Amino acid sequence: MRTTLIKASLCLALLALAGGCSRDEAPAPTATGASNARPAVDDAAERDEHSYAEPEKVVIDDLALALALDFDSRTLAGTATYTLDWKDAAADALVLDTRDLVIERVEGQADGGAWQPLQHVLAARDALLGSRMTIEAPARPARIRVTYRTSPEASGLQWLQPAMTAGGQTPFMFSQSQAIHARSWVPLQDTPRVRYSYTARVTAPQDVMVLMSADNDPAAARDGDYRFSMPQKIPSYLMAIAAGDLVFRPISARAGVWAEPSAVDGAVAEFADTEKMIAATEQLYGPYRWERYDLLVLPPSFPFGGMENPRLSFITPTVIVGDQSLVSLIAHELAHSWSGNLVTNSSARDGWLNEGFTSYVENRIVEALYGKERADMEFVISRNGLREEMKTMPPDMQVLAVKPGVLKDPDDALSAVSYDKGAWFLQFLELRFGRSEFDAFLRGYFDHFAFQSISTATFADYARENLLGKYPGKLSDAEFQAWLYEPGIPADAPRTLSPRFGVVDSARLAWLGSAQLPPPVITDAWTTQEWVHFLEGLPQTLTIVQLSQLDTAYAFTRTPNGELAQRWYPLAVRSGYVQANPAIEQFLQRIGRRKLIMPTYEALARTEPGLAMARDVFARARPGYHPITTASVEQLLAAAKPVPGAAPATVAPPPEAADPADDDVRAMPASDGDATRPAPRQAPTGN
Ligand code: BES
Ligand code: ZN
Repeated sequence: MRTTLIKASLCLALLALAGGCSRDEAPAPTATGASNARPAVDDAAERDEHSYAEPEKVVIDDLALALALDFDSRTLAGTATYTLDWKDAAADALVLDTRDLVIERVEGQADGGAWQPLQHVLAARDALLGSRMTIEAPARPARIRVTYRTSPEASGLQWLQPAMTAGGQTPFMFSQSQAIHARSWVPLQDTPRVRYSYTARVTAPQDVMVLMSADNDPAAARDGDYRFSMPQKIPSYLMAIAAGDLVFRPISARAGVWAEPSAVDGAVAEFADTEKMIAATEQLYGPYRWERYDLLVLPPSFPFGGMENPRLSFITPTVIVGDQSLVSLIAHELAHSWSGNLVTNSSARDGWLNEGFTSYVENRIVEALYGKERADMEFVISRNGLREEMKTMPPDMQVLAVKPGVLKDPDDALSAVSYDKGAWFLQFLELRFGRSEFDAFLRGYFDHFAFQSISTATFADYARENLLGKYPGKLSDAEFQAWLYEPGIPADAPRTLSPRFGVVDSARLAWLGSAQLPPPVITDAWTTQEWVHFLEGLPQTLTIVQLSQLDTAYAFTRTPNGELAQRWYPLAVRSGYVQANPAIEQFLQRIGRRKLIMPTYEALARTEPGLAMARDVFARARPGYHPITTASVEQLLAAAKPVPGAAPATVAPPPEAADPADDDVRAMPASDGDATRPAPRQAPTGN
């Protein structure tokens, strides 16, 4: 404490000269909490363990950014000005989350007055949470302004050389703020508990277009000076920015696509149903409240499938496969405009309120546009994935409402439990209460909690009053609680059956037994979902002869469909099908979407030669990977324990030995189309 005070007074003496004080060294822990010790986990359901912010004392009501975007230095630099709502009359500091930011100056402004320098302390960096920034503000000024710049290694930004774009001429950059990376490009109360409106002025080189999660103007002049406004209040993880050679094409009056010129027409064709999706969701859950809904197609290094940045979902190009078979991704990101962006989880451990609700709504949109057969196939695929992932998951991670302290890294909230168990729970409620009753409930829920951040407990209270209590005798509180707070899947969870997958199962089984491929008259009509199901049900390894037969017939190696590559290449690796290696290397270098490439890295890392190949490819691919993908691959390779001397198997065990009945997940009903279907053999694929 004393050290801090001495530094503070020294600092005060220098203020006139320096215009403010920035101390990057780790201070001794102080009573005012300037140390970077993990925030204590208390029992309050609403506490966010992944933010240093103290929203009970003060909240950011509005943010005004003025930033210069510079590709040469790979930085954003400028000011963030906060309009503050002081909740606690005794508060004397604004605590912000930061990660790897260089803070140049901090100032405060009383109502309409002059800007006055303020002192701040930037604590030592925590690997997960970044650095707590404590701004001393005993006068509780109405506004505070921070002058800062980002690091070229900011975890939430990727800077791409022109060669890494489709056009090859113009550099590209984009942000990915969820879960806690916004703090690497804006000092913020980086917790979904706090919502604020924002404006931004961004300057950039003239040949790039800048877009944000805000009111992008389809007709904006590309003049290097861009202004944005986001009047609806959003949590920090929905802050987004992108810049590059981007052009716009409309889909409807309120929807369209931004993409590089060479990609935009293909994207418009693939995503032509976007307006229909918006209309279908409005029909179910009330008006779309964000005005425009545009899609931004990113380069293939984007680490996720999609990100629901408000008014401008960020989308991987890997779903543009020419037949609209993967557009449930658009349904998903659009659905977040209700579940997530409108009603938000108040912390990462209630992530299922975002992703589970969204996966359920996504499936309803798919059903409305493409019919129940397609929706059911997608449910079955995701539940088979859930079943696999839960096998290796500790029980405390298998619950929807994760307890405080369990989730170390908030990105782990991305598990199949929050997505697929969450969606399964809502489907269960729909069947119990009836579709029209449940639809009305959900619509009321979105209206009731619009623009708020809530916990599972708040949802549960609301559901008890408006669902369980309103229709007594339909669902006991014990059943309700089991879904929310217990591991595994309740035994009476609804089964989704897919007759079309039954056909796939029979075809696969017949081929495994007789080497007789199904007639083209059957497979010609198969969609991506059926091929995914075909591949997922294969044994762990096949013989080279078997793999070659499949490859000759269906050209899986070099498939442009990432969902198939995600399943085919690990099978090829496990089976020692080295013919696929050049294609695997290209795939791992071209694509940075984690879900697609991690299973192949995992399969490679299991043998010594495979691990050597993985290391070699990674070294070459790494400059093109996003920091999030780089971190995942590094972690996997560092933890790899290849079986010594083991070469990949080249001979498959007989099919019956490879396909034991898969009943080891307790109380988990079969969710697939046919009881004879071999269980999926994939490693968990998560996002
Ligand atoms: N919001 C998520 C992406 C996300 C979640 C990023 C948590 C970081 C932390 C997005 O809506 C999402 O779920 N994307 C999925 C798509 C999907 C399930 C259709 C993805 O990227 O795979
Ligand atoms: Zn999502």
